[in-house]
Amino acid sequence: MAEALPVYEGAVDKGLEGVVACTTSISFIVGATLNYRGYTIEDLAANSTFEETTFLLWNDRLPTKAELEKFRKDLGAEMSLSPELVATLKTLPTNVHPMAWLRSAVSAMAMFDKEAQDMSPEANLRKSLRMTAKMTLLVTAFDRLRNKKDLVAPKPDKSLAYNFFWTLNGTEPDPEIVKTFDTCLILHADHELNNSAFAARVTASSLSDIYSAVVSAICALKGPLHGGANEQVMHMLKEIGTMDKARPWVEDALNNKVKVMGFGHRVYKNGDPRAKILRQMSDRLTAKLGQHHWFEMSDLIDDAMQNKKGLLPNVDFYSATVYYAMGIPIDIYTPIFAASRVAGWDAHIMEQWKNNRIYRPRGKWQGKENLTYTPIEKR
Ligand code: ACO
Repeated sequence: MAEALPVYEGAVDKGLEGVVACTTSISFIVGATLNYRGYTIEDLAANSTFEETTFLLWNDRLPTKAELEKFRKDLGAEMSLSPELVATLKTLPTNVHPMAWLRSAVSAMAMFDKEAQDMSPEANLRKSLRMTAKMTLLVTAFDRLRNKKDLVAPKPDKSLAYNFFWTLNGTEPDPEIVKTFDTCLILHADHELNNSAFAARVTASSLSDIYSAVVSAICALKGPLHGGANEQVMHMLKEIGTMDKARPWVEDALNNKVKVMGFGHRVYKNGDPRAKILRQMSDRLTAKLGQHHWFEMSDLIDDAMQNKKGLLPNVDFYSATVYYAMGIPIDIYTPIFAASRVAGWDAHIMEQWKNNRIYRPRGKWQGKENLTYTPIEKR
């Protein structure tokens, strides 16, 4: 007699809403507040830098002045793409989505890292540093390669935010744009058990290597319900085109049950604190760069979404106009997200290995039972 199926009453929650999958001390959401290692995101956005925030995420404390200097120097020392890697990157097609390219590029990077299979904590920290230093360069290399331009050598003594613009355009960036971008990197660096961090932890939990876990995370981030939403927001604004069409467009979308990108969140029901900071940044920067109409249109959509559906913007909504005003190509918004979030992914992977047990949940069976194999000629 067939064994009775296990009963998992109440254990199934579509999308794992509210399920606590592990303990963590990297970042935490309390109501409408996000903390990294105990510091609020508002505090870090106002006072820290991406490099310092990365140190904080990996070390569970802020660095001293000397430690930060060393950390920046170590990052600078990894701020280059080897000739072998560049030669491989040049063989990849560039008429693809940049996230698909980045997925392969990070995978290729692993093949040129002699420490790729070294699972010691020291090697994993070095690889985290390497990936964080190089991911920005990979994103800008993609844009230059597809435009048939030579790669620009980074300036290792400058920040990653500075080097993003420098290696993208080969021109000296405006310090205010660099500062604003650096804040964007801080805001995107980690977010508790988000979809991509969870994907990274699931891969890491099988004791696969850190590159494999990061590639898993990139694959998860690519989706429009996660990191892919920021570029969709800008396409939406451009499709709407003029201010007078904004409210009717939202009404139409909601009536047709179309999801408006950049709104809603699984955890934040009273607003995403990162969106509030990005809203101010969008207002300020678009005004400075003569593109305030994009902010005004976003504001109208924000208002319409709150009134019609009670939905608030998430991190992806106002970041779109911030990046657009900076002149960044729309399809590399999600790769930029990856270049920042890699700091958080690495923190999660390293935390997972400190207290590892393989993730292996169960599925509640709802298929057929007790069938007997029928030979093919009798079907
Ligand atoms: N536009 C319109 N309606 C929405 C939206 C939206 N952006 N988001 C949620 N809703 C509606 C749903 O249709 C559903 O309505 P119903 O109850 O009438 O059917 C209700 O709100 C609940 O939505 P779910 O999709 O069940 O919420 P879930 O927690 O599963 O998903 C998510 C959260 C994926 C963020 C969702 O809000 C969404 O798809 N938003 C748009 C994509 C987006 O901006 N993603 C970026 C998220 S932030 C990040 O990952 C970096």
